[in-house]
Amino acid sequence: MLIWLRNLLLLAAVLECNTQDSVNQPTRVQTASEHEMVKLHCTYSTSDQYPYLYWYQHKTNGFPVYMLRKLSTGSSSSEKEFEERFQADLNKSSNSVSLSIQDVRVSDSAVYYCALQPTVTETHKHPDKN
Ligand SMILES: *[C@@H]1O[C@H](CO)[C@@H](O)[C@H](O)[C@H]1NC(C)=O
Repeated sequence: MLIWLRNLLLLAAVLECNTQDSVNQPTRVQTASEHEMVKLHCTYSTSDQYPYLYWYQHKTNGFPVYMLRKLSTGSSSSEKEFEERFQADLNKSSNSVSLSIQDVRVSDSAVYYCALQPTVTETHKHPDKN
């Protein structure tokens, strides 16, 4: 059975007004057979040294669901339902974060978004904003 994993153009730096930060998913549409391992890619650009990278799952007729986050220092945390088969890997030198899905299922069919949050959001306001 063929299933779909669709990567749409995502909301760049949804969580912050810093326009220098952005994320990009080069592979927009990806398909896989059931039980395969699938890897979705996302690249980002930020001046922040220690950004948080987030993955969200958006199923048809639903809201985007927060799945997990990865800090560039290596630590990560996942929501319970995504702990087992979903894993993010961050590569700081290539500014990319991937989402691996093990043993992929039809029910994983969704749009997956990645998002970036700088760690310095509170103190890093842009004086030229507005
Ligand atoms: C991270 O990215 C760099 C540059 O593209 C690459 O050479 C390196 O092998 C990657 N590291 C891992 C762990 O994938």
